[in-house]
Amino acid sequence: MARIPQETIDRIHDSADILDVVSRHVDLKKRGRNFFGLCPFHNEKTPSFSVAPDKGIYHCFGCGNGGNAVNFIMEFEKISFVEALQELGDQFGIPVEFSGNDESKEFFTHLYDIHQLATNLYHDALFSNRGEDAKKYLLDRGLSEESLKLFKVGLAPAGSSYLWNAVKGKNYSQEVLEKSGLFGFSNNDVYDRFRSRIMFPISNASGKIIAFGGRVFGTDDPAKYMNSPETPLYRKSEVFYGLNLTRDDIRRSESAILVEGYTDLIQLYQAGIKNAVAVSGTAFTETHVQQIRRFSSTVYLAYDGDSAGIKAALRAGYVLLKGDVEPYVIEIPDGMDPDDWIQKDGGKEFKSIGIKKASGLLRFHLKTAGFKDLSSSNRSNLIKEILTEAAGISDPIVRQGFIKTLAQVSGVEENQMVHMFSQQLRKKRPNSKSKESSKKPQLFTTINAKAELGIIKVLAGNNTKAKEIIKEKLDLDRFDNEQLKKLAQLLIDKTHVNPAEIITFYDSAEDRDMITRILMEEDETTEPLQMAEECLKTLSKVSVKEKIRELRIKIREKESDGEDTLELMKEVVKLQKEING
Ligand code: CTP
Ligand code: MN
Repeated sequence: MARIPQETIDRIHDSADILDVVSRHVDLKKRGRNFFGLCPFHNEKTPSFSVAPDKGIYHCFGCGNGGNAVNFIMEFEKISFVEALQELGDQFGIPVEFSGNDESKEFFTHLYDIHQLATNLYHDALFSNRGEDAKKYLLDRGLSEESLKLFKVGLAPAGSSYLWNAVKGKNYSQEVLEKSGLFGFSNNDVYDRFRSRIMFPISNASGKIIAFGGRVFGTDDPAKYMNSPETPLYRKSEVFYGLNLTRDDIRRSESAILVEGYTDLIQLYQAGIKNAVAVSGTAFTETHVQQIRRFSSTVYLAYDGDSAGIKAALRAGYVLLKGDVEPYVIEIPDGMDPDDWIQKDGGKEFKSIGIKKASGLLRFHLKTAGFKDLSSSNRSNLIKEILTEAAGISDPIVRQGFIKTLAQVSGVEENQMVHMFSQQLRKKRPNSKSKESSKKPQLFTTINAKAELGIIKVLAGNNTKAKEIIKEKLDLDRFDNEQLKKLAQLLIDKTHVNPAEIITFYDSAEDRDMITRILMEEDETTEPLQMAEECLKTLSKVSVKEKIRELRIKIREKESDGEDTLELMKEVVKLQKEING
C-alpha cells in the first residue's frame, strides 16, 4: 500500500503555517497572542474559534474541535489524511511522494480516476440513444434534466463489459481494479459489477467520486439497489450522499434533513430544500453523527412513512440524541417517501407541513407506538425501553431535559420518572459502563487532574527553569489520566516542543480536541515556577492520601478479623504528618 514517508509528513507539519491555512477559510482577528474567528465547524454568533500561531494549533472552545493544520484541512474539507497532506504539500511547495513500490505509488489517484471515468461513461450513456428509456423514466419521476446533470446520474447498460472495455487499455494494476469495487472477477474474466442500473455517483465531501449506488433498471433483478462495497476510498459509515453539494446550506440553515434514498435527496434539492443529506442504504451510525454535528446541531429525519421507515427513523433518532444532536421527525403521509410526497404535493407542502410540524423524537415515538391506547403494563415497558436509550445520553443537561419531557408527554409524574430512570440505570450499569464513560468529555475537576493539567501547561510553555524542575521531580506514575500522562511524557521527551507535532500522536479526534484545548488555555495568572512547585506538591499529596485510604481499609479488615492494627496505624500517622508538614 502507498505510504507517505514520515519525513515528508514532518516537513508539512513544519511548513504548513496554521494561520495561513485557517485564514483562507475563516476571518481571523488578533487578540493577545492568539487569533479568533467564527468557528467553521458549528454555528455561532460570537467567536470562540481560536488559532495559536506559535503553537501551530487551533481549537474551538464552543464545539471542542481542535488540531493542527493538517487536521483543520481534513475537517474542513472532509478529506482523508493523505489527501490533506497532498493538498498542503501543493500549497507549500513540498512534493508528496509515496514510498513503496512503483505500483502502489499512484494507488489512490488511480482509484479516483477510475471512478471519474466510470461516472462520465455512465452519464454519457444516460444522455445517449441507449439511455433514452432510462432518461424518460427519470424525467417521468419528476427529476429534471438539470438535476440529472448536477448529480451526474448515469446508466450502466446491460452488457457485462461496458466499463471494462473502457478501462482495460489503461494499465491499471490488478490491485486498483480489485479495490475499486467496480468489477467482478471469475477465472480469467473481468466483468462489470454494475449492469442494467441507473447509477448515482457518491462523492466525498470535497466532491470527488468514490462509489456508486445503482438502482435496477430494465431487468427483473430482485436486488433493487446495489452499492459499491467498502473500498479504500469508500467507508460507508462516514459518507453522506449529497453532502458535497449541501454542506453550506446545512451550515446556513443550522439544520439538516436526513433522508434514506438518492432520489429523495435529489427531489428535495430540486424543490429548493437544499440542506439535506442521505444515508443511502447503510445504517445510521455514531460516525455519521460526528460528521453531521460539525455542520448543525439539529437534524430532521425524513424517512419513509411505512413501518420499516418508522423503525429506522427511531433508531437513527436515538443515535443522534446520544450524540448531542437534536432529532425531529418529519412525518411523511400514507406510506410515501419524501420523493413521492414532493412529486405529489410539491416542496411547499414539505416545508409548511413536513418541516414546520415535525415532532420531537419522543412525541413521535409515543405516537407511533400508540402509547395512549396501550395497557398500563405495556406503557411501563415502553417507558423502560425509552429510559434505556436515555441512559446513553452523555450530556447530563440534555438527559435531564429528556426525562422531563418524557414525564410530560407520557403523563407520568416527574419524580416517578426520575426514580424509574435510576432503577433502569442500576440494571444497566455492569456491562455498559466502561465503554460509555470512556467516551464522555473529560472535565478535569479532581484535584489530581488539575495538578496534572498545570504540569502540562508548564511543560508546554517556555519557562526553562520550571520545566527542568518538573523533569527532575515528576513521578509520571502519579498521573491518573492516561492521555495526560502520555502528553506529559511526550513533552518531557521532546527537547524542542511543538504542540502541532505533539497532537499527531493522538489518533482519536476526541483526544485531539481535548489536547488542543489544554495547550491553548494558558494560565497567565500564575508564575510558572510557582505553578510547577504547587502542582508537584499536590500530586504527591494526592497519592499519599490515596495510600492512607488504602491503609484505612486494611485496618478495618484486620479489625473485623480481630487482628492487631497498631503497625498500620503508625504508618497512617506518619503519612498524615508528611502531608501536613
Ligand atoms: N437502499 C440500498 N440498498 C437496498 C435498498 C435500499 O442501498 N437494498 C437505499 C438506497 O439508497 C435507496 C434507499 O435505501 O435510495 C431507500 O430505499 P427504497 O425506499 O427501497 O428506494 P427508493 O429510493 O424509494 O427507490 P425508488 O423510489 O426508485 O423505488
Ligand atoms: Mn421512492
